[in-house]
Amino acid sequence: MNKKILVVDFGGQYVRVIARRIRELGVFSEIVSPEQELDYFAREEVAGIILSGGPASLAESGAPGIDERIFQLGKPILGICYGMQLMADLLPGGRLTTRGISEYGRAELKVSQKSPLFSGIAFKNGDSSSKNGHSLAELTVWMSHGDSVDKPPQGFTVVAETAETAIAALENREKQLYGLQFHPEVEHTERGQKIFQNFLFDICQVEKSWSIEEIKADKIATIKENLSEEDGVVLGLSGGVDSAVTAALLHEAIGDRLRCIFIDHGLLRQGEVEQVEKTFAEEFAIPLLKVEARDKFLQKLAGVQEPEEKRQIIGETFVRVFEEEARKLEGITFLAQGTIYSDVIESGEHQQAETIKSHHNVGGLPEKMELKIIEPLRDLFKDEVRKLGEELGLPGEIIYRQPFPGPGLAIRIIGEVTEEKLAILREADAIFREELENSAVKEDIWQAFAVLPDIRSVGVKGDARTYGYPIILRAVSSSDAMTADWVRIPEEELDKISRRIVNRVEEVNRVVYDITSKPPGTIEWE
Ligand code: XMP
Repeated sequence: MNKKILVVDFGGQYVRVIARRIRELGVFSEIVSPEQELDYFAREEVAGIILSGGPASLAESGAPGIDERIFQLGKPILGICYGMQLMADLLPGGRLTTRGISEYGRAELKVSQKSPLFSGIAFKNGDSSSKNGHSLAELTVWMSHGDSVDKPPQGFTVVAETAETAIAALENREKQLYGLQFHPEVEHTERGQKIFQNFLFDICQVEKSWSIEEIKADKIATIKENLSEEDGVVLGLSGGVDSAVTAALLHEAIGDRLRCIFIDHGLLRQGEVEQVEKTFAEEFAIPLLKVEARDKFLQKLAGVQEPEEKRQIIGETFVRVFEEEARKLEGITFLAQGTIYSDVIESGEHQQAETIKSHHNVGGLPEKMELKIIEPLRDLFKDEVRKLGEELGLPGEIIYRQPFPGPGLAIRIIGEVTEEKLAILREADAIFREELENSAVKEDIWQAFAVLPDIRSVGVKGDARTYGYPIILRAVSSSDAMTADWVRIPEEELDKISRRIVNRVEEVNRVVYDITSKPPGTIEWE
């Protein structure tokens, strides 16, 4: 059985970064709640445990704790920031102080004792007899703490200090317990990845087993184990990355027992329906049931102006259409979903990352279908999902697609959605995206699209007065869609895009560029 590292989430902003760093080193990591039962930490496949940072102060009541028997399991444990303080607080002899000076940002760490955690970390200037005579290594590290450890627990040695923090790293080598007051996971900490490497391979003695080939083989084996020869699976394909990779993976594992439903709600971009059909039905030979539901969606949306009402109508209609089609299929026992790790963490469900669980009535499906849920990507980060997609042979246009909202173009048309407006927006949007393919700022773009507002203005085309729509262009950079900035598209590119749109799209006589960040704007307009 492959070994893994558990990362205990104390609510710190960096918990996901820690989990990523471990996986980057080729070891599987799983984020767990501090309330996870002790038995889970004691399992054989757990090679080590990391207690993450967190915003709480142990001086305050209600600060999260952990079963202190965790330190008796004999598993290597690394406490980071709050995690180290908690370790000092729970173990005999340790003492914390909240009186100390808080330290935020850059700090110079002096390693004063040899420690397996810092092994192989070059001494500054390559000089082992360091300039101040007693530190073995000096590193720039990133600190963010108010409380500090004032006295190490019994059996612990202080390994490093900074100017403000006397106990910046400590260890009990015999019990394999280590603590760092600083954050090795952030980029600003020098040699942070080496520290994790030391913890994983020297202290936890885990082997690399987390590679995309292994992930693929492991996922396929798990699917085969959990599904019988009679089980059929239905999956809703959206054209997005997650459902596409789920489909390719399931198809490789169970072949034609996977049935995909692709609902064309008429709110997709130019060429999108054809692209999905081509990739899945033609290139992959995955049985694809395309459901033409354009009229149904447009009828339901007729006369509706309110953004939230539009979203609700689309969501509900989607479920109804899917349900109707899924019922017609024979032998379906599972519903597959493209849930990924960030969805799991965001929904606060980060317990054991089991791939398969029983469920009824999910997403509005009728209870009598009694479909079980299968979510094979539940433990993967987005970039791992993309790599897996590549490994499965999916084309780049699908894997590296920009995020596209479920309600589609309906939330990029301000006010009522009509066939005419959809056609205008599709054409302008396609020109914009096509031009950006060759743009100098292509790599900076997280999402780029056109928006059609519900106003018209006066213009002149070929000596004649026009009364047409403006098109709003939006291009943003972001790493997680939580915050975003507008992309500085070069003037001459904007000029070309604007001219192409007004020349080609008859109903459009003006082009404007949205230069609002998020916050205060959002990425989408509705
Ligand atoms: P906002 O507009 O809130 O968008 O800044 C943040 C990110 O979420 C996407 N988005 C959606 N995705 N269903 C989705 O699947 C939706 O209803 C939805 N609304 C917004 C948006 O495109 C951006 O990436």
